[in-house]
Amino acid sequence: MANVAVVGAQWGDEGKGKIVDWLSNRADIIVRFQGGHNAGHTLVVDGKVYKLALLPSGVVQGKPSIIGNGVVVDPWHLVGEIAKIEAQGVTINPEILTIADNACLILPIHPALDVAREAAASAPGAKIGTTGRGIGPAYEDKVGRRAIRVCDLANEDDLKIKIERLRSHHDPLRAGLGLEPIDPQALLAQLLEIAPKLLPYVKPAWRVLDQAQKAGKRILFEGAQGAFLDVDHGTYPYVTSSNTVAGQAAAGSGLGPRGVGYVLGIVKAYTTRVGEGPFACELDDEVGRHLATVGREVGVNTGRARRCGWFDAVLVRQSVAINGIDGIALTKLDVLDGLKTLKICTGYRIDGEVLDYLPSSLKAQAAAEPVFEELPGWSESTSGVRSFKDINANAIKYVRRIEELIGAPVALLSTSPERDDTILMRDPFQS
Ligand code: GDP
Ligand code: IMO
Ligand code: MG
Repeated sequence: MANVAVVGAQWGDEGKGKIVDWLSNRADIIVRFQGGHNAGHTLVVDGKVYKLALLPSGVVQGKPSIIGNGVVVDPWHLVGEIAKIEAQGVTINPEILTIADNACLILPIHPALDVAREAAASAPGAKIGTTGRGIGPAYEDKVGRRAIRVCDLANEDDLKIKIERLRSHHDPLRAGLGLEPIDPQALLAQLLEIAPKLLPYVKPAWRVLDQAQKAGKRILFEGAQGAFLDVDHGTYPYVTSSNTVAGQAAAGSGLGPRGVGYVLGIVKAYTTRVGEGPFACELDDEVGRHLATVGREVGVNTGRARRCGWFDAVLVRQSVAINGIDGIALTKLDVLDGLKTLKICTGYRIDGEVLDYLPSSLKAQAAAEPVFEELPGWSESTSGVRSFKDINANAIKYVRRIEELIGAPVALLSTSPERDDTILMRDPFQS
């Protein structure tokens, strides 16, 4: 019996939350392994909508869920999100939720820096279009070895020492951006005030996972963002500040790589992206508006319109390789209902040459022109269809062509936002 890692295979918002929630039923424990509350995961259960950013999507099914060490945790956001989700009738207590003691914190200085940098980025191409949640600055402090970690919340002396270290790095930076120096007393007071609200959940998460693994429990790893937002493999610098690929599931949770198991890539039946950066298949026409409107492509966190375009098989094939994807969950097929002709990108024309992969250089990425093949669309509705045999022939052709082009089979097919509008083709936990 395999564990399963769920990862976004495009630029995020592929429907990971829905699929993780659906798979949670078959799992014993769920763990987030990277990112922070830049993520926005929407679950719909019997018409009731849950929006999660930091809490693993398993909590809605009442499954033990872990915020792993690879996640950057904004304690104030987390406390707010717990209150919000509890108000919707979901139970959160230390039996359900574990926060890794070695995860790093997002402090108020981080979103302030994130937002100030974006505001100051006036040179062409300098804006990233971040979520403004302090993700980049928090990960910088982590790798810079000056972050405050979750475990530090239990020790006032440690906090004082770490705040001093942060001041010496951040105050000059802040001055350059016109921000006031850090107020160490105020920051300490804020941390001491929030600490008792977090500490009941804090444990060595690697140990919880090790024990679960040894007891034969099934672990579900929940990724955030997507492969092309990965800090190494994405469209750098228009990426997030963590590794989003499946390899991070091990490092970001504290379970060894052999424990990761089956890698399930979540793939939208077309392409979207929020924020700046290259997007070869982007559409600024009627079809783009169809995808945006029918697909309700609006960012959960920031309310920004998502950019929309045709399915990019080159991108997803690359994603299959860098993630080691065993199978995919194909989502939002229903959004294509009613389009006469569909296009799939099978290559990029760059300087007269056709490439079957996305090159790393910014210049080449910006110059890439998609090479498309066309497939017939369908007028039948696939929305809410729960059996593959009820999917019309042209939609099946589209799905089969995607499998062929990306080199991975469809394990799950999603036909609406609702939890149960999900067709199981092969069970990732049984593979
Ligand atoms: P995530 O960040 O990968 O979890 O994805 P988001 O939740 O940000 O965005 C996916 C959106 O599509 C959400 O609003 C989901 O409710 C919705 N969604 C998921 N699967 C489907 C599907 O198969 N069809 C349709 N129409 N919507 C879906
Ligand atoms: P989920 O988990 C889509 C994008 C931002 C920006 C870039 C960097 O819902 O799929 P950051 O705030 O991380 O420094 O922003 O990454 N981004 C996402 N786009 N879905 C997400 O998460 C994202 N998280 C970050 O829009 O372009
Ligand atoms: Mg999202």
